[in-house]
Amino acid sequence: MNLWVPLDQDNVRDPFPMYARLRQESPIYKAQTGEWIISCYENVKYILKDQRFRSGNKLEWINRGITYFKSRDRDLSAIATAINSFLLLINPPEHTQIRKFVSSVWDDKVVDQLILENIDILLATRRRGSTLDIVDDLAKPLPNMTICKIMGITNDDYEKLSTLSNNLVKVLNLYNSFKDLVNIDSASKNLISLFNKLLKSKQQTPGNDLISKLIVANEQESEPLSDEALISVFIFLFIAGQETTIGLISTGLMHLSKNPDQLGRLIAQPELMPNAIDELLRYDGPVHLLGRIATEDVELIGKQIKKGDTVTLCLASANRDGNYFEQPDTLDLTRTPNRHIAFGSGIHFCLGDWLAKRQGALAIGKFLEMFPDYRINTTNPIWNNNLSVRTLKSLPCHI
Ligand code: HEM
Repeated sequence: MNLWVPLDQDNVRDPFPMYARLRQESPIYKAQTGEWIISCYENVKYILKDQRFRSGNKLEWINRGITYFKSRDRDLSAIATAINSFLLLINPPEHTQIRKFVSSVWDDKVVDQLILENIDILLATRRRGSTLDIVDDLAKPLPNMTICKIMGITNDDYEKLSTLSNNLVKVLNLYNSFKDLVNIDSASKNLISLFNKLLKSKQQTPGNDLISKLIVANEQESEPLSDEALISVFIFLFIAGQETTIGLISTGLMHLSKNPDQLGRLIAQPELMPNAIDELLRYDGPVHLLGRIATEDVELIGKQIKKGDTVTLCLASANRDGNYFEQPDTLDLTRTPNRHIAFGSGIHFCLGDWLAKRQGALAIGKFLEMFPDYRINTTNPIWNNNLSVRTLKSLPCHI
């Protein structure tokens, strides 16, 4: 029986039974597509921390695709230019250098005021007794508005940038068709051009924003990044927290409404929020799958992973592993400790975890304060067709 069918519509709606079967029957499973599927906590974490497994299979795969289509007169090279310095796709020593450089300016963690102002813009005119769409009206615009302010991008740009970001992030999908690649290429060209303009204008007139700080820090490096690489870094910082935070806020509010005892508890004890956010990330975090490639032969619980083999790590499955979490399929907002790996582990651990958690906590907190009796208006919410970054397309509700 084929245990790995991530595009099957039942699994898109609810992949957890598929993950449970993988963990029970074949925790290191060779998929029909050729890659290894790793579903238990211990093995996923082991691979994330083991430098024999590297990131970048996506970059190689995309580059192979680009070369192939070039031979057929389709130039998709903008994709490679846009993603070449994406932190999560590169490896040491380049990764160490860029991560250190980004971390040196990515330190202004005073974001509450900014996020609350954005939530207010989105929710202030909403009235109890009406309806809204949690994705379209809150979860989708909020992280975009916030990262625009942090990066110093004016409001006129952000709606266009949001669509482009949604298109480009699909490059991280598990599988992409030619049509997908054409859309990703077009988003790449547009984002490169927009961030190039921003780079030039902030080089001339720096502000107090992240892009300006990165430009200044880069000039002080002994081996500064090229403009092309710097633009790729900007693009990744811009897109990394969008689909993911959409997932945290909307999937989180959906699961809370399905667990009224937990929801009631959170409304009565808002101080539980930081814990609740971690539990929502564990229970059904936005990033279900990550990819790695083996750089040498590795034996793992009796399976021979060969040099060059691709491994798909199921973070969301690891976070439901009964050998690691008590009652893993129960949403328990008071769970402690909660060592979930929704933000990954090892050298690529998410750089924006603090921003994601704070934005999630403020958005969900404010929403519950304003609309404690919200009810989801559908029994069959529609998911994007992608387990890599899994988000709802829409979540209508009565407030
Ligand atoms: C709930 C929201 C988020 C989740 C679940 C999430 C998850 C992740 C995961 C799993 C990784 C590791 C990828 C790997 O190992 O291959 C990662 C990396 C990263 N994330 Fe996030 N993320 C979120 C939000 C954000 C935000 C808001 C930002 C910042 C704007 C951000 C920036 C990054 C960066 C820069 C990396 C790459 C780090 C590296 O490779 O060194 N993320 N994220």
